[in-house]
Amino acid sequence: MNPSETPAAWSGRFSEPVDERVKRFTASIPFDWRLAPFDIQGSLAHAAMLHRVGILTDQDLADIRRGLGEILADFEAGRFQWNLDDEDIHFNIERALTKKVGDAGKRLHTGRSRNDQVATDVRLWLRDAIDRLQTLLRAARVSLVDLAEQHAETVMPGFTHLQAAQPVTFGHHLMAWQEMFARDADRLADCRRRVNRLPLGAAALAGTSYPIQREYVAELLGFDGVCENSLDAVSDRDFAIEFLAAGALIMTHLSRMSEELVLWMTPRFGFIDLADRFCTGSSIMPQKKNPDVPELLRGKTGRMNGHLIALLTLMKGQPLAYNKDNQEDKEPLFDAVDTLADALAIFADMMGSHVDAQTGARVFHVKVRAERMRQAAIEGYATATDLADYLVKKGLPFREAHEAVARAVRAAEIKGCDLADLSLEELRGFSALTGADVYEVLTLEGSLAARDHIGGTAPAQVRAAIVRVRGKLGGGLAG
Ligand code: ARG
Repeated sequence: MNPSETPAAWSGRFSEPVDERVKRFTASIPFDWRLAPFDIQGSLAHAAMLHRVGILTDQDLADIRRGLGEILADFEAGRFQWNLDDEDIHFNIERALTKKVGDAGKRLHTGRSRNDQVATDVRLWLRDAIDRLQTLLRAARVSLVDLAEQHAETVMPGFTHLQAAQPVTFGHHLMAWQEMFARDADRLADCRRRVNRLPLGAAALAGTSYPIQREYVAELLGFDGVCENSLDAVSDRDFAIEFLAAGALIMTHLSRMSEELVLWMTPRFGFIDLADRFCTGSSIMPQKKNPDVPELLRGKTGRMNGHLIALLTLMKGQPLAYNKDNQEDKEPLFDAVDTLADALAIFADMMGSHVDAQTGARVFHVKVRAERMRQAAIEGYATATDLADYLVKKGLPFREAHEAVARAVRAAEIKGCDLADLSLEELRGFSALTGADVYEVLTLEGSLAARDHIGGTAPAQVRAAIVRVRGKLGGGLAG
């Protein structure tokens, strides 16, 4: 940043320069520089429209295009020198343009205000961010589906209240996570529809007296249409709020998954091991391998929720139309997208796989301890419900069956064995309806296979779900 003595663009009506501290307090350039490519994109479309309606000459348009092109190149090369005296990205670019091309630069702002300009920039920026996040969400889903396919038959205890409840397959569990991300992708797509509207033309708040063509600008910028009310166009940030709400849900989902990964990685569970590169050691305890990545994913959910609350609070007291409060929309939004992008990319990799160059074999980054999962399901009496269902099918009312099985579990617990280890005689002691065929339902595989309907955990159903999701995702295994 290089301080300049140039007076502010609006200084004409003021009798003294702005206080230095106020300048720092009100400037947004330290963060809104990120909008530069989108500000230029918006200005190019605005200029093309002004030319079309006869406000800019051929020469003006050519100058503006050349100047903005150079500024974009400077920005991309990290050469663009922004200046705090110029307050924000819009003034910084306008000043740079005018320095490069003279009067044409000064004509660009005809029929426009920074109010509709910034609203347009933020929408263009957010639309692009949503598209990037969709790609990352998709990658995370592909990782989960690929891993689920490997484990369509791997048995683990399903939990309620974090107590072993009924057997499920690990693939089924992973596909539950995938469902969450599928809805997240839907939410982003839905939010994008409302982001993708053009505020430009609203000018400061009331529209403009120039013969502008908003639909033309919208078309040039790939917007689905224009914001229909000028006051609303410059002032509302609900599109950003709903994006943050969708983002907070993505992080909430990642956080829940992370919590499970952390639990599963403790030696007590020992269900999985994360690849070393996603973990760190302890500075004092040599034996430790800490799941830092899932813990941080869980932790970063807090800042995302904070950003959502920040924007909701920012909006709630604002009268129409634009107020400077809205400048505060950017940092939460930028940080939210950075956080989401990092979180999704790292999660997709951590849960993902790659093809080993030497052997050509697919290597999954999560190591799954199928034996431990299976043992936990057995120790948790996960087939108790199956025994109750068995007795019901033999004619016992469900409440009585529940009672009989509860007593059987208690007996097994005292003996320190599984339900399937009780003899037929012992089992008949709890209900005389028990036959030798009972052992079929007491196995984990029997329990899984019995849940054979859409959404159930039977391996065949898990495979069918994988096929359906792959169809929607398009393409197969990750690269
Ligand atoms: N930097 C401002 C923002 O982010 C741009 C709009 C300023 N408009 C104004 N009337 N002060 O909101």
